[in-house]
Amino acid sequence: MIKEISPSLSLKGTLTLPPDKSISQRAAIFSLLHEGVSEVGNYSSAQDPQSTLSCIQQLGAEVKKEGEKLIIKGTGRKGLKSPDKDLDCGNSGTAMRLLSGVVAGSGLSAKLVGDPSLSARDMTRIIKPLEQMGAHILARNSGYAPLFINRNEPLKPLKFELPIPSAQLKSCVLLAGLFGEEVTQVIEVLPSRDHTERLLNLDQKLVQDRKIISASWADEIPNQSYTIPGDFSAAAFWLVAGAIQQNAELLIENVGLNPTRNALLEILGEMGADITIENERMEGAEPAGDIVVKSSALKAIEIDPKIIPNCIDELPILSVAMLFAEGTSVISGAEELRHKETDRIMAISNMLKAVEANFEEQEDGLIIHGDPDFSFKSATFESFHDHRIAMAAAVLSLKGTGISKIQDAECAAVSYPTFWDDLKKVIK
Ligand code: S3P
Repeated sequence: MIKEISPSLSLKGTLTLPPDKSISQRAAIFSLLHEGVSEVGNYSSAQDPQSTLSCIQQLGAEVKKEGEKLIIKGTGRKGLKSPDKDLDCGNSGTAMRLLSGVVAGSGLSAKLVGDPSLSARDMTRIIKPLEQMGAHILARNSGYAPLFINRNEPLKPLKFELPIPSAQLKSCVLLAGLFGEEVTQVIEVLPSRDHTERLLNLDQKLVQDRKIISASWADEIPNQSYTIPGDFSAAAFWLVAGAIQQNAELLIENVGLNPTRNALLEILGEMGADITIENERMEGAEPAGDIVVKSSALKAIEIDPKIIPNCIDELPILSVAMLFAEGTSVISGAEELRHKETDRIMAISNMLKAVEANFEEQEDGLIIHGDPDFSFKSATFESFHDHRIAMAAAVLSLKGTGISKIQDAECAAVSYPTFWDDLKKVIK
């Protein structure tokens, strides 16, 4: 599907976001592991969380919908069943990596598969620690899905220092660790999103600036009865759209505000964005609130590489903000972006080239020479079937003077099924 976007002179309105993708997927997997019933409110209908939901059903969870809630009857760790069919993780790295931890830890046999994008993503990062814990994993070309996982020896505990700040890798090892008699520890040097620790209430200690998270059979898996807040990574598109657009005022309701996820708020604040947070509250273990963004005069920023894991999914849309900020902005230490749904550094470069922006691509980031008066007529953007690239290009398109096109725009549904309708709603 090709989406045509006309320039916008004003953005106004109130937005309700899709439920958080990372929390939805964890709610499903942790509900499976809880022995009993969880009532999950506001579960995401986006493609990634729906892939996870069908996988947990194949592993034995019973799922039914009651009004706005999903009622999930978990099997507990003892009652899981080996799936009859492949576990299809679709486009979702989170599903494949977290479920691999569950399968390897539990000793089930399963084959995990994904779409072409997921099958091209490196799985050696999870294969290595899971093999150290005793799992047998057969992967295509030793590191790519499909993954065949089983284990016939007792689970070995692991003390694992994360070689990359990845919440998916952290969660994979902790989930496997939950099946061990002895304690598995994950040591985190740079904080990545902490939904797993929060929602499972795992033991965490800070030792010399490093976080040590522990998991074992002795941990009780709490039920997952809470309402999932809106996805901060979806809010990011509106935060930037509102800031760079003239005559803009957007109210974004019920946004997840987990501090390990929302570095973009701090970054845009430093760039001079007019953003206010209202109604801060807790939704279960996760903070949430409403955000108002208005047209802003942005200035350039150099991002501290240490906070890259806390804004990793927001870097495509942040690059768009940087293009309209006065001065030279720098993203560095973001090599991990090359290993997402597509090589996102390449995809951002491609988007910026399409509008003849002044920028340089680096191995681990981008240098963007911004200008508040930057203008372009129209462009055709490749999404590379990556939801976040398609949505970032749509926000950029609003600033053209003619009609721009986004290719394969349907991929937005991976995390944000109503994005194109919401965009129509706020363009005035
Ligand atoms: C996610 C973690 C991040 C993020 C992804 C979702 C998660 O990946 O990019 O969209 O739900 O744990 P990494 O932790 O691998 O960087």
